[in-house]
Amino acid sequence: MEKNSRIPGFYKLPVEERLKIVAEWAGLDEGEVSILGNFGNLPREIADSMVENVIGGMTYPFAVAVNFRINGKDYLVPMVIEEPSVVAAASNAARMLRDGDGIKSVAGPQEMIGQIHIVGARAPYYKAMKILESKQEILDEAKKYSETIVKLGGGPKDIEVRVVDSRMGPIITVHIIVDVLDAMGANTINTIVENIAPMIEKITGGEARLRILSNYATRRIVRAWARTNPDNVGGREIAERIVEASIIAEADPYRAVTHNKGIMNGVIAVALATAQDHRAIEAGAHAYASRTGVYKPLSTWEIDEEGYLVGSLEIPLQVGTVGGATRVHPVAKIALKILGVKTAKELAEIMAAVGLAQNLAALRALVSEGIQKGHMRLHARNLAITAGATGELVEKIAERMIKDGKITYEYARQLLEAYLRGEKV
Ligand code: MEV
Repeated sequence: MEKNSRIPGFYKLPVEERLKIVAEWAGLDEGEVSILGNFGNLPREIADSMVENVIGGMTYPFAVAVNFRINGKDYLVPMVIEEPSVVAAASNAARMLRDGDGIKSVAGPQEMIGQIHIVGARAPYYKAMKILESKQEILDEAKKYSETIVKLGGGPKDIEVRVVDSRMGPIITVHIIVDVLDAMGANTINTIVENIAPMIEKITGGEARLRILSNYATRRIVRAWARTNPDNVGGREIAERIVEASIIAEADPYRAVTHNKGIMNGVIAVALATAQDHRAIEAGAHAYASRTGVYKPLSTWEIDEEGYLVGSLEIPLQVGTVGGATRVHPVAKIALKILGVKTAKELAEIMAAVGLAQNLAALRALVSEGIQKGHMRLHARNLAITAGATGELVEKIAERMIKDGKITYEYARQLLEAYLRGEKV
């Protein structure tokens, strides 16, 4: 019989019932059901209240990058990631960038942009002026919907208006700038724009279509920079090649994307550990990389007049230490405690610094031994574990696979079997 994915009321069922349905659908055995139904360190009730149609949990490794010194303060940086080598690479690069105050990183005010798109207004350019004329009234109205944040010193700060051309004629695009302090800000912004849209409609005589934040967080830019003796990265020649790698990324968007992916390896791993909206961060970062009309690297590496390798990074980061999943997920709370951060600004500064370090590690590896060596070691360990090795045997089998240049599951199994037969591995 053909399977039918139309399951009315699925969302109303308890977790176990949903899991049962899916198990039957996919022919999951008891073992698989019990793996999926294991919520690990996220209590089932919390998981069930976070998103819809929950049937289980999925755990990723939670690691800590060491050696980070940022703005003169030491940090242990929690990272959640599935990719081998990223945490080791971040820790290595952080060691290279520890001198003095370490990596410098500065975020400005935590301002988000809320957008209202008005269509069908007559004389849109004139109406844009009218909106600006009413700026104070609009801001006062907006403050009514963000009282808590206003009390804390944040809230609506400014209004910007543009008229953008489109296939359906001019669209009045209103931006309300809100200092969201330590929140990521999506809820605050969306509440404001939904509530002030009628006022804008009245001023313009048009109709509000979209009322939502922009994830192009150009008012939440973080700048990180670092300077290191070339000896720390393996010498002058390697430092020069790192600069060349940076120039190649500037010249070639195909490379720039991979270059930026390396930066996001670090940024997103911290974002996951602290339960941020990482999709928002990614979307904003890549849009920012394209701000000139051509996709560019978010970071640049140069050599200064004293022959030091210097790196700089500019990235929009929309993160929060209050509200959202950060305050709900027990592990995210612990991650923030390990970091010792209280403010979104500090968290954003750390994330940019990690991005810069991650980038340095990737470029250094790429221009020297290549990245496969480090990757392959962890890959080999993974294969050894998957093949059934435990304890010291994992390293032994991995070592042997690397030595023989045969890093495959099959070979891991053969080695394990040989070991179990009493042979030397
Ligand atoms: C792999 O996850 C990231 C890198 O490809 C980044 C880069 O190429 O710069 C190594």
